[in-house]
Amino acid sequence: MTNIKEADHCAPPLSLIKERVERGAILTFMDVIQGSNLRADDVAILRGRHAVVTGASRGIGAAIVSTLARHGADVTLMSRNEAQLREQAVTLTKKFNGKAQAIAIDIAQPTQISAAFARAADQFGPPHILVNNAGIAAAAPIGKTDLSTWQRLMEVNLTGAFLCIREVVPAMSKGDYGRIVNIASTAGLTGYAYVAAYCAAKHGLIGLTRALARELARTAVTVNAVCPGYTDTEIVAEAVGNIVAKTGRTREQALKDLTAHNPQGRLVRPEEVAETVGWLCLPSSASITGQSIVVAGGELM
Ligand SMILES: NC(=O)c1ccc[n+]([C@@H]2O[C@H](COP(=O)([O-])OP(=O)(O)OC[C@H]3O[C@@H](n4cnc5c(N)ncnc54)[C@H](OP(=O)(O)O)[C@@H]3O)[C@@H](O)[C@H]2O)c1
Repeated sequence: MTNIKEADHCAPPLSLIKERVERGAILTFMDVIQGSNLRADDVAILRGRHAVVTGASRGIGAAIVSTLARHGADVTLMSRNEAQLREQAVTLTKKFNGKAQAIAIDIAQPTQISAAFARAADQFGPPHILVNNAGIAAAAPIGKTDLSTWQRLMEVNLTGAFLCIREVVPAMSKGDYGRIVNIASTAGLTGYAYVAAYCAAKHGLIGLTRALARELARTAVTVNAVCPGYTDTEIVAEAVGNIVAKTGRTREQALKDLTAHNPQGRLVRPEEVAETVGWLCLPSSASITGQSIVVAGGELM
């Protein structure tokens, strides 16, 4: 493996870098900076890295795990739906010629988390990348938000991320590369009516991101949040269904209400969120930490 000390002062030609990656070498920050015109898709830039993605069974998580596999990472897919995860792992292995494994976990069950990460590391080694994406949403006026809904949203959207982070940081912070990406939301940066519990959990996730970024700044681990606006997944399909049921509006009107938040007037695509995560995981993104990257068509500026 090449490290920064070994790196040449002159830029190695692109063909040499490609050749090294094909031999299984792990690219470092300096390799990428020095490799003029080198782009993520030119080589499997994350080859040799192990990425764990929670909530990988569908929606944004499925898109993220696919992007990281395309960049060459070995991927561990986690969520509750094991059959779905296994099917995806097989597809990813065939499509990107890398390694993928499925591990069933309920992120709201702290006792399952240590065992799941031990299994993940057993197969592919300690994770270099953790994407905390598993999440749920619920809408209700504050007076009708019961304690169990509040607690459930905190457990899945915030405490689950904390517990996963605790599993990976000890080994990750000793290495020469590490990435933690928390999928928050625009609701982590501003308030929306009738989603107080979701907003509180996502604001908490951004607080966790910022504190941890500072704590780990002297290591090779970066910690960032990605904040999508309304994205075309089941969460939004459910939100549209709820608006229809509660207000009697049509689906088209309900969808128009949601896309009105986005100056581009459309839902974000899961792949757009995934590409942002992929970019944060590149070796060349090493100085980006503690940030909340908004992917929302200009909704927040
Ligand atoms: N869609 C949007 O408009 C939007 C906007 C901003 C932020 N986000 C955030 O983006 C993330 C992904 O959302 P999405 O839109 O892709 O939603 P989605 O399609 O509903 O997917 C949610 C994922 O989380 C997993 N999950 C839910 N509860 C879990 C639990 N207890 N344990 C383990 N996994 C669990 C689900 O898998 P299983 O059911 O298999 O467990 C699924 O893979 C969430 O954090 C969400 O808050 C979404």
